[in-house]
Amino acid sequence: MELDAALGLIADVPDFPEPGVLFRDLSPLFASGPGFRAVADALAGTLSPEVELLAAVEARGFVLAAAVGYARGLGVVLVRKPGKLPSVAGRVDYALEYGTASLELPEDVVAPGAHVAVVDDVLATGGTVNAACELLEKAGAVVSGVSVVLELAALGGRAVLEGREVHALRTV
Ligand code: PRP
Ligand code: HPA
Repeated sequence: MELDAALGLIADVPDFPEPGVLFRDLSPLFASGPGFRAVADALAGTLSPEVELLAAVEARGFVLAAAVGYARGLGVVLVRKPGKLPSVAGRVDYALEYGTASLELPEDVVAPGAHVAVVDDVLATGGTVNAACELLEKAGAVVSGVSVVLELAALGGRAVLEGREVHALRTV
């Protein structure tokens, strides 16, 4: 499937999860074999050659990073919501478009100096990816770039990630 057609599978859902929010639902894209392959291949194509490891945020980021990691022969660091990891290298609290959240990085998984790319589905306010980048850098990693399927430009995530290499397959 062409990338454009794959991205066309993303559905717009008004007033979810609360009134006034236009939610972009990637479920139909994730559920399409050809669509999923097209976005995974396109994300894999955004990675710089120096990338040694991927990092992904629970939950939708895991799905994409697993496919990209397989395509490129790279492992994935699972950045998790709190209370899931027996041993953490660090924790960051951050704001979401709707609500607040925290993320934790597993201990002893990221080697100091490792070049890591962050993979996620949506870049909205940038809080999630920024928190993941902070966690990785506190652990001594070098964040090589950020690759997402969809960037919601009005929410300003790119400015929050200023100075970072941000790749979005589609910006709306
Ligand atoms: C969504 C999405 C991104 C993040 C984007 O995750 O998958 O990770 O929000 O928003 P931001 O740029 O404003 O931080 P969510 O926390 O809803 O979790 P999920 O993947 O478990 O559905
Ligand atoms: N869709 C999916 N994830 C999101 C969105 C959205 O519109 N906004 C923030 N995270």
